[in-house]
Amino acid sequence: MSAVIVVGTQWGDEGKGKVIDFLAQQADMVVRHQGGNNAGHTVVANGNEFKLHLIPSGVLYPDTECIIANGVVIDPDVLLKEIEYLRARGVSTSQLRISSQAHVIMPYHIRLDALSEDRLGSQKLGTTRRGIGPAYMDKAARVGIRIGDLLDRERFKERLVRVLDEKNRMLARAYDTDGFEFDAVYGQYLAYGELIAPYVANTSVLINRAIDGAKKVLFEGAQGTMLDIDHGTYPFVTSSHPVAGGACIGAGVGPTKITQVYGVVKAYTSRVGDGPFPTERADAVGDRIREQGHEYGTTTGRPRRVGWLDTMVLRHAARVNGLTGLAVTRLDVLDTLSEIQIARAYRYRGQEIRELPDSLEHLDEVEPVYETLPGWQTPIGQCRRLEDLPAPTRRYLDRVSELTQVPLTLVSVGRERTNTISWSPLF
Ligand code: GDP
Ligand code: IMO
Ligand code: MG
Repeated sequence: MSAVIVVGTQWGDEGKGKVIDFLAQQADMVVRHQGGNNAGHTVVANGNEFKLHLIPSGVLYPDTECIIANGVVIDPDVLLKEIEYLRARGVSTSQLRISSQAHVIMPYHIRLDALSEDRLGSQKLGTTRRGIGPAYMDKAARVGIRIGDLLDRERFKERLVRVLDEKNRMLARAYDTDGFEFDAVYGQYLAYGELIAPYVANTSVLINRAIDGAKKVLFEGAQGTMLDIDHGTYPFVTSSHPVAGGACIGAGVGPTKITQVYGVVKAYTSRVGDGPFPTERADAVGDRIREQGHEYGTTTGRPRRVGWLDTMVLRHAARVNGLTGLAVTRLDVLDTLSEIQIARAYRYRGQEIRELPDSLEHLDEVEPVYETLPGWQTPIGQCRRLEDLPAPTRRYLDRVSELTQVPLTLVSVGRERTNTISWSPLF
């Protein structure tokens, strides 16, 4: 039995796509289980770059089954375009299966996401405006449309009539704007349903059968721990559960089936969107890391906020995810720096603390306490074994693992599949 969950430990964009693609060489199945096309996962293989938003990052291997499970919210237009994008580049999606229970992002979700952000003004969350929050709201309110509904004309009609009436009232009364016309939405989404139908399956059955059949199954987290709706910097979070437990719910797999949980750690920190970020460097140091690391959003193109590594965040991630290993990425982005800082504690209300404050709403009151490590000032992209890394690089990695109390499992030193160092069995 081998079921490995890969989660982001920070605020997303840690390099999960790259790590999943690397691990997927050995996997039989890769499963997306939460989030939607707010995610942007980049894979670079043999010089070709792929940006994936919904389809699992295992799709480049023709024999790997790819699953979009029940916990994902799916924009059918984005899904179909992504299938086409891959097909045009010679990548088959015949191994893709989609849960009939996954909720559908409807046009009113996208509109409401943008309207709500605009109304919040300077208080906005900085969402990706892809309709993610409103789609999960409807799921919880039990008025959502699911993929299976698109395949049943009568049931879909009944549900859409009810929900559209309410959304149109809301658009008119709360936002003083036009609503959506039933026939247009109904027709368009029925057509999407027909195109998606060949992929639809009971994915919990498929995933459990694979695990029980001694196959290697990978769970690909989207976003990151600090964006989790319970364990992140609420309200500046996404509306799903990027933490490891979310994989069980979002895929229909029991926790007793999980064998490893790897946390992807960017060698520094980035955040796109608003909200607290204690180690942010909104100065020349930050600019240098942003340029060196090309830190611009995969989904929205927004410049990412950047700063030093924060081990309070990593220890929090280790605890709430039960991490068994760390995959440290983008280490090469720090190649030119003469000194690198790591936040080892916070000063908070006159005391030094090593955990996040009791309420994450107080995170903007903390002041990081740094320790400074020497940089390596040499390119490391060609290193393929831990022994090849310069001594200061290994010292940095050891310190990250020591402060986090989680062993190191994998190191990424570049964007390519081959720019990866691994030394032990990963499944
Ligand atoms: P994800 O959302 O966690 O999958 O991460 P993104 O794909 O949004 O952003 C990570 C970016 O870093 C992508 O452009 C990757 O190609 C790139 N990347 C991943 N690992 C490394 C690495 O070790 N070094 C460098 N330089 N880039 C990396
Ligand atoms: P990947 O999987 C980074 C952020 C948004 C915003 C907040 C809420 O590529 O790591 P949402 O649209 O989800 O309601 O926005 O969450 N966010 C991400 N930030 N990487 C992501 O995904 C993100 N998905 C959402 O910027 O702050
Ligand atoms: Mg991303």
